[in-house]
Amino acid sequence: MTAPLRTGEPITVNVALGDRSYDIAIGRGLLATLGARIARLRPGCKAAIVTDETVARHHLAATESVLTAAGIAVSTAKVPAGESSKSFRFFERVCDDLLAARIERGDLVVALGGGVVGDLGGFAAAVVRRGVDYVQVPTTLLAQVDSSVGGKTAINSSHGKNLIGAFYQPILVVADTALLDTLPERQFRAGYAETVKYGLLGDAAFFEWLDANWREVFAGGPAREHAIAVSCRAKAAIVARDERETGDRMLLNLGHTFGHAFEAAAGFSDRLFHGEAVGLGMALAFEFSARRGLISKADADRVIAHLAAAGLPTHVKAVPGGNWPTVDAMMNLISQDKKVKRGQLTFILVRGIGQAFVTREVGPDEVRAFLAEKLSVR
Ligand code: GLY
Repeated sequence: MTAPLRTGEPITVNVALGDRSYDIAIGRGLLATLGARIARLRPGCKAAIVTDETVARHHLAATESVLTAAGIAVSTAKVPAGESSKSFRFFERVCDDLLAARIERGDLVVALGGGVVGDLGGFAAAVVRRGVDYVQVPTTLLAQVDSSVGGKTAINSSHGKNLIGAFYQPILVVADTALLDTLPERQFRAGYAETVKYGLLGDAAFFEWLDANWREVFAGGPAREHAIAVSCRAKAAIVARDERETGDRMLLNLGHTFGHAFEAAAGFSDRLFHGEAVGLGMALAFEFSARRGLISKADADRVIAHLAAAGLPTHVKAVPGGNWPTVDAMMNLISQDKKVKRGQLTFILVRGIGQAFVTREVGPDEVRAFLAEKLSVR
C-alpha cells in the first residue's frame, strides 16, 4: 500500500494467471487508448460493445469512435440500466445480439459499464460459440476496484444473486478514472465500500490511509487513482493464487454473506445498491466478530464509524423502506450463499482490521439470534 501516490501516469497491474494473464490499465483518459490496446492484442478483430442505456448516453459514442479509429468494426448490444438486466431474459437477448452481429471466435466483447454490464457481458462472452474473448471497460468505482477484475461473470436467479455464471477471465481491463466523473455520488459511495474492503480484509495500512484520505478519493485526482490501483493490486494477488475461490478468494466476500441477503431481501432494487449492502454487511461482520471476542469493540466501532462517515448504511434501520422479511426468510437467503458447503454456512470474520479469515464454525442459531436482534431495532 505504501507505494507513493503517482500523478498523471497510467498504472498497470498484471493479473498473473499463466497463459490467461492480463493487464489492468488504470488512469485518467485511458478510454482513448482502448482501440490501440485491443488492436495490439487481437489484430483484425471485430468488437461488440455490451452496455446499458445510461452508460451509452455518456460513453458509447466515444468508445465506438476509439475502436473504429483503430480499424475495429463495432456493433452494440444495449440493456436497461440496473440489476434487473442480470436476468435470463437479457442474457438471451445479449447472446442473440452477439450472434446476429456475427461475433466469432477471434472477435471480442467489450463490456462497457458497471458491475451489471460486466457480469452479463462477460457471461455472454463465456458461452457464445463456447467462448469469445472480452475486455472490461468499467465505468463505476465498484467495477473498477472489484467486479471487472478476476473473471467472475454471472446473472441472478430467483434463488439469489450471481447463482448462474462462470469463471471466465477478460483479456484486458481498461479503468479510465475520468469515466467516474459522471457517476452519481450514491454510486460512488457504493463503490467505496468495495474499496475500503481491501483495507479491512488484508491491509491495515491501506485502511489507515483511507481513513485519512477518503475525502480526497471522493474528490478525484491522484488519491482516487491510488486507491483504485491499491485495490486492483490486492485483488490481482488474491485471484492469482485462488482463481476459483477455493480458499483465499473467499476473503473478498467480506461483508457479502449478510450483504447479499439484505440485497436480495430488498429485491435487488435501488433501495439498497450492491456496494451499500456490502457496507452494511461489513459493519455487521465487524460487530459479529466483536461479539465473538475476535476483535476489540473499539476497532469494530472505528470501522463502523468510517463506513458511516463515508455515507454507507451501517445498520439495518439506515436502509429506507423498512419491512424486512422474517428472520427465517433471511436465513433462507443466507443459505443460498455460494460459499455454503455441504449445508454449512461460510463466514468471513475478522481478528483485527486487515485480518479477515474464513470460517465454517458459525452455527445457524448464532446467526439467527444476531439477525433477529438487528431486524428488531427500529
Ligand atoms: N467480488 C468478489 C470476487 O471477485 O471474488
